[in-house]
Amino acid sequence: MGPLLPSDAADCAVLERLLFAEDDPWTARMFRDELTAGHFYLAARDGADGGRLVGYGGLALLAGPGNAGQPAETEIHTIGVHPEQQGRGVGRRLLAGLLRHADELRAAVFLEVRTDNEVALELYRSTGFERLGVRRNYYRPSGADAFTMRRPPSTG
Ligand SMILES: CC(C)(COP(=O)(O)OP(=O)(O)OC[C@H]1O[C@@H](n2cnc3c(N)ncnc32)[C@H](O)[C@@H]1OP(=O)(O)O)[C@@H](O)C(=O)NCCC(=O)NCCS
Repeated sequence: MGPLLPSDAADCAVLERLLFAEDDPWTARMFRDELTAGHFYLAARDGADGGRLVGYGGLALLAGPGNAGQPAETEIHTIGVHPEQQGRGVGRRLLAGLLRHADELRAAVFLEVRTDNEVALELYRSTGFERLGVRRNYYRPSGADAFTMRRPPSTG
């Protein structure tokens, strides 16, 4: 696992179309913009020396740390693993890398996830996320609902 590079953007867009066909998949341009904005993105590849891109995940710094001891706030913007590579621990490793970065910042982590995405929900529950609420019709064009989730900042 290593950093996602601007040269990965086109491959990310291909994966997005496979993974989020119903929900406005991100374009290569959007991935490049995320990297330009300085967000923290990781890539999983199928070879030790940088083979084909099989997964990606990104964490954005939203705010802080604020006054009065308010923690920094981050958000998981996207995470995805190639359908043929799912269920082999790649997603958990990507998420762990993003959460390590958030923990270094002592930051809370927010995310939205489709209410019917059992795999992702289980992954998030098992890494310390709690449900905050529901956003109706959050995803477009599917109209699917999202849970908002939050993982508290590390105290370690
Ligand atoms: C969600 C996603 C990133 C997980 O990546 P992955 O590599 O498939 O997941 P892992 O193999 O690391 O498994 C992580 C956990 O997910 C859960 N999980 C994985 N496959 C599962 C399955 N078939 N059924 C139920 N839970 C499953 C388990 O809790 C698993 O942890 P465990 O292996 O320790 O029990 C991946 O499935 C994906 O890209 N899905 C489509 C895009 C998406 O939904 N992204 C999240 C948007 S919020």
